[in-house]
Amino acid sequence: MPLPPTFSNHHQAALAGHEPAVKAALDELEKSQAAMRIWKKDPSLWTPDAAGEKVIANSLGWLTVARTMKERLAELAAFAEEIRADGFKHVVVLGMGGSSLCPEVLRRTFGQRAGWPQLHVVDSTVPATVLRVERELDLAHSIFIVASKSGTTTEPVMFHRYFYDRVRSVAGAAKAGRQFIAITDPGTQLAKDAERDGFRRVFLNMPDIGGRYSALSYFGMVPFALAGGDVAGFLDRALEAAAACGPDLTGAENLGLRLGATLGALALQGRDKLTIIAEPPIDSVGLWIEQLVAESTGKVGRGIVPIAGEPLGAPAEYGSDRIFVYLGTGAPQGTTAEVIEALVSAGHPVLAHLLRDPLDLGAEFFLWEFATAVAGAVLGVNPFDQPNVQESKDNTRRLLADYVRDHKLAALQPIAADHGVVISSDAQNAAALAGAAGLTSVICVHLARVRPGDYVALTEYIDESPEHDALLAEIRIAIRRRTGAATTTGYGPRFLHSTGQLHKGGADNGIFIQITAADSEDAPLPGEPYGFSVLKGAQALGDFESLAQRGRRAIRLDLGRDISAGLRRLLAGTEHPAQARAV
Ligand code: PA5
Repeated sequence: MPLPPTFSNHHQAALAGHEPAVKAALDELEKSQAAMRIWKKDPSLWTPDAAGEKVIANSLGWLTVARTMKERLAELAAFAEEIRADGFKHVVVLGMGGSSLCPEVLRRTFGQRAGWPQLHVVDSTVPATVLRVERELDLAHSIFIVASKSGTTTEPVMFHRYFYDRVRSVAGAAKAGRQFIAITDPGTQLAKDAERDGFRRVFLNMPDIGGRYSALSYFGMVPFALAGGDVAGFLDRALEAAAACGPDLTGAENLGLRLGATLGALALQGRDKLTIIAEPPIDSVGLWIEQLVAESTGKVGRGIVPIAGEPLGAPAEYGSDRIFVYLGTGAPQGTTAEVIEALVSAGHPVLAHLLRDPLDLGAEFFLWEFATAVAGAVLGVNPFDQPNVQESKDNTRRLLADYVRDHKLAALQPIAADHGVVISSDAQNAAALAGAAGLTSVICVHLARVRPGDYVALTEYIDESPEHDALLAEIRIAIRRRTGAATTTGYGPRFLHSTGQLHKGGADNGIFIQITAADSEDAPLPGEPYGFSVLKGAQALGDFESLAQRGRRAIRLDLGRDISAGLRRLLAGTEHPAQARAV
């Protein structure tokens, strides 16, 4: 592959004429002594205001956490042995966003290790998903990790209640707590609830680490240890990356500075669609990078838009708003190698991270955290807050209170109905789509609103399954061919703790298609007059309201009971050759 080495042997870049912009960004970073100031935990690199400084000063513990965790290896190993010796077959992480995405990537990358429990992650309130995971478990031999930094996030609070109740019905009230562990910050409500419920163990995490920067702390490493992962090896790789981002490496020789400067400088030049091409066995790493980059940079009308899991296309299918990064264990092979060569020849900037083996994910986690912090400085945003996530959460809370009072959820304005698919939106979007009848017509008009540099986001509150994944991938190809735009997809409510920040806080360059469906079964929530179905419904509506309040271009498609049939209809509508009406 003709990529000249620029970072190190394992990190290469072909910048396609963008070298001067990256060099200028690096020069600026060098002048401001960015590397040294990051390691000194100097908040003024990102913000001049005192409130922001306070948040940042308490957000940089990730820089040194790998070393701290190495000192706790014996503790982790002993606990993992205890869990194994007690005959547990399943370890189930209950959490969202930064508290669960690292375990999810580790689970998908390393699979189950012989003789060790199987790792599961619950980060969805879709009843079908909760029940599917529950049915995969042997409840009597399952240990649950309630993972929440704040200890008050709605989803893990509800997962805790639900699974605690289920375990109590099997193990009895006196013993249920022995099947629960918490990972949280000191003094949180979760820490108190864990004590009340007699949890087997509470891991108090270092409070100076934000959610999406917590992969190498207890949040990532406890689940990895319990599943028999090589925690020591993983942390060693992270320390290698930390050394490659050291305070004395002031320019391009600093791996993290170089990556962050590249991402930031190219985004400022309009190449803000960070397209992640990740190959098995580390193909799920895009989920983690997507969250880190989107939630960290997508704010104050700016941001880098990560494009994860989009099927590969020919160079002509990509606009001039893209930068590509390949991540794989070794150089790309076969079709991927051909596509990457074609992208380089066509003048797209392409980075390549060639991991030595899957353990190098430990190094990548650190590298991307450092680079994201740098990119934040280049873009002039605070990469450690998530100011717009709260809006959707507040909307959800209000909608649930309304549900308790009215016994029904509020509804959006219907636009059209078509073979069981109901299309709806808010008043402003409904007006913009007036006259469109039927799914194909609405989709054509909605997608005709795409402007150069926009992205199209599918946000689906349905069970994550191979069949749904495959259909969504086809829909993404069809949308890209039709509009030329980059596409994203995110299962709700997972994406609310990831790209959700960018959707609302980033630039107004997103076109949204929210997908909901009827639930054929529900799982009740102990202590609440509703189950997961209503909770998920309120989250979807709360997020839609948040988009609508900001005048975002958004529609909802409710697919009814037959989700696959509905997705196929959406695909057919997207592929339809009819002339789109300009609005
Ligand atoms: O990165 C973040 O801050 C978020 O994605 C959080 O990790 C997510 O919202 C979960 O928060 P908590 O761990 O407090 O439950």
